[in-house]
Amino acid sequence: MPELSLEEARRRVDWLRKEIRRHNYYYYVLDSPIISDAEYDALMRELEELEAQFPELADPTSPTQHVGAPPLEEFRSVRHTLPMLSLTNAFSEEEVREFDARAKRFLGLEPAAELEYVVEPKYDGLAVELIYVDGVLQVGSTRGDGEVGEDVTLNLKTIKAIPLVLRRPEGRAIPKSLAARGEVYMNIADFRRLNEERLAQGEPPFANPRNAAAGSLRQLDSKITARRPLRIFFYDVGETVGIEFRTQEELLRTLPEFGLRVNPLFRKCAGIEEAIAFHHELERERESLPYESDGVVIKVNDFQLRRRLGEISRAPRWALAYKFAPRQATTRIREIVLQVGRTGAITPVALLEPVELAGATISRATLHNQEEIAKKDIRVGDLVLIERAGDVIPEVVKPIPEARTGEERKWEMPDRCPVCGSALVKPEDEVVFRCPNISCPARIKESIRHFARALDIEGLGERLVDQLVEKGLVKEVADIFRLEKEELAALERMGEKSASNLLEAISRSKRPSLSRFIYALGIRHVGEHLAEILAKHYGSVADLISAREDELQGIFEVGPEVARSIVEFFSTEKNREAVRRLLEAGVRPVSEKLEPARPQPLAGKRFVFTGTLRAFTREEAEGLVRQLGGEASSSVSRKTDYVVVGEAPGSKLAKARELGVKVLSEEEFKALLREVGGGEG
Ligand code: IVH
Repeated sequence: MPELSLEEARRRVDWLRKEIRRHNYYYYVLDSPIISDAEYDALMRELEELEAQFPELADPTSPTQHVGAPPLEEFRSVRHTLPMLSLTNAFSEEEVREFDARAKRFLGLEPAAELEYVVEPKYDGLAVELIYVDGVLQVGSTRGDGEVGEDVTLNLKTIKAIPLVLRRPEGRAIPKSLAARGEVYMNIADFRRLNEERLAQGEPPFANPRNAAAGSLRQLDSKITARRPLRIFFYDVGETVGIEFRTQEELLRTLPEFGLRVNPLFRKCAGIEEAIAFHHELERERESLPYESDGVVIKVNDFQLRRRLGEISRAPRWALAYKFAPRQATTRIREIVLQVGRTGAITPVALLEPVELAGATISRATLHNQEEIAKKDIRVGDLVLIERAGDVIPEVVKPIPEARTGEERKWEMPDRCPVCGSALVKPEDEVVFRCPNISCPARIKESIRHFARALDIEGLGERLVDQLVEKGLVKEVADIFRLEKEELAALERMGEKSASNLLEAISRSKRPSLSRFIYALGIRHVGEHLAEILAKHYGSVADLISAREDELQGIFEVGPEVARSIVEFFSTEKNREAVRRLLEAGVRPVSEKLEPARPQPLAGKRFVFTGTLRAFTREEAEGLVRQLGGEASSSVSRKTDYVVVGEAPGSKLAKARELGVKVLSEEEFKALLREVGGGEG
């Protein structure tokens, strides 16, 4: 087949763009992709290559344009089409009922009448407005002061869930102009991963997902934004031309048809009591939501009623934020003690006067490190604000200095480990003090607890580990596999039955997946996610042990600090010994390495075909290459390994020669296939 002409390329590019947009819609809006990631990537790559080869086909709305642009000096200001209002907060059912009664009074309705509401989660991110004119994204801005925001168009364009052009729904026209409003946010898991990476690269972590989302969106360099896992939910519109919504429900059902992602988790409620009930329902599910939500937003469904209700002091009379029970409380610090982690890291912990917080009684909270205590000026005896976010351990947010009596004491970091008495150490560039003694009982206990948690050994809880270490039955992790029934049964709160149950659980844990095993080793900076990545890359513990630093750094998501930490871990004789002993005790990690289903002798090789082949069509030849693990693309670049030339080749042959890419005749291509066992020819 000859080289693509400009016209052919244009048709192919149009098709690819349409196809990719269609898949974006399935993936981001409907949340149910219909092709694999690899197939999607292949479409994207082909489009990128064609756009590079035919610069005249460039289009700012192409799906390839979610990549970021050169950095800005500053953000321009943008005036919103209509003010972006704020919401009145309510904290109790009573306040919510008052809001409902007020709205009815205002509308001249009977108290017994029911107003229809739509209730949505309240997202904890950053509100934005995106203006689409004739379906094309023109400008995107932050809320700012409600009247004027910052122009963050380039940053918003890097978010893949934000369409650069609207989808045209069947039987409906694209509106002349649509100002779509929503919340840019980050999922909790993505936030944790981002922080894990930042710590590994020596950068300060973000305090919470909202700060992470806001900080990422307000980057002058959109290439940085492009690497952040930002998402969006749309929930409102500003000025619209050529489309009208009658209700919030209609709005939420229509926006997705234009390719604008809406959270399906909303409810239409026949009255305020139903709205309150939905609030309670969501509050119970709060911990299982993938994103942070601090309440619900209750909105009058009917837009005509909304217009009549209007607004008062920058907040609509038709909407209310009904917050969940706070996860913050105040209490007093009785004492500050040190906790020794398995890596020896010392964490100061506040012992508190017990206080009720989001359904739990809290008597300890972390103070992170001594620098944090000094910076916040936290003293023993202080009244403090504490917070519990998600499943994370409660932390002391800040002291309340106004409540001081003069009895409070400044706290100083001890210079010895509270458990083994070793002198604590702190590297210049770190904030954390460490106990350097690997045989410190506190460290041993923590490693065993970590190991038991990682391998999910039921019954090997905190108290039991304390006893096992204190009685000298367990001196290192591998010892748990040598425990005997009699010695266990003799321990406090144990008996024959629980001893044999525990032994069974221990025995079951001898076949962990490789990733759980790697995680269980407790290598600094290697959390569950990184352990999975390492396990997929290395088929066995032995391979990981002998991995070199540069090789580790070559793995996507493994930064220099992580690589160093892994190498350091395995170059410590005592750690290698510990792993050896685990294997000797019969622990057999199960490999999860991604083995290709069939041999892939052409893996990593890129082929381009030009001209007409005699033995097969272009599609057949490309299919063969892919079956053998290679890639086939339509344009020649420096990354191309082979250009296969048939009859009447096009300009690709010249390009290949120019770039020094290896050229194969059809015969040579067939010989190559025979050589690698690809049949045919
Ligand atoms: S509707 C005034 N819906 O809340 C009504 N806002 O205080 C327009 N927010 O900055 C907003 N989740 O970022 C609406 N489901 C939701 C929301 C939501 C979070 C934020 C929004 C805005 C603030 C208003």
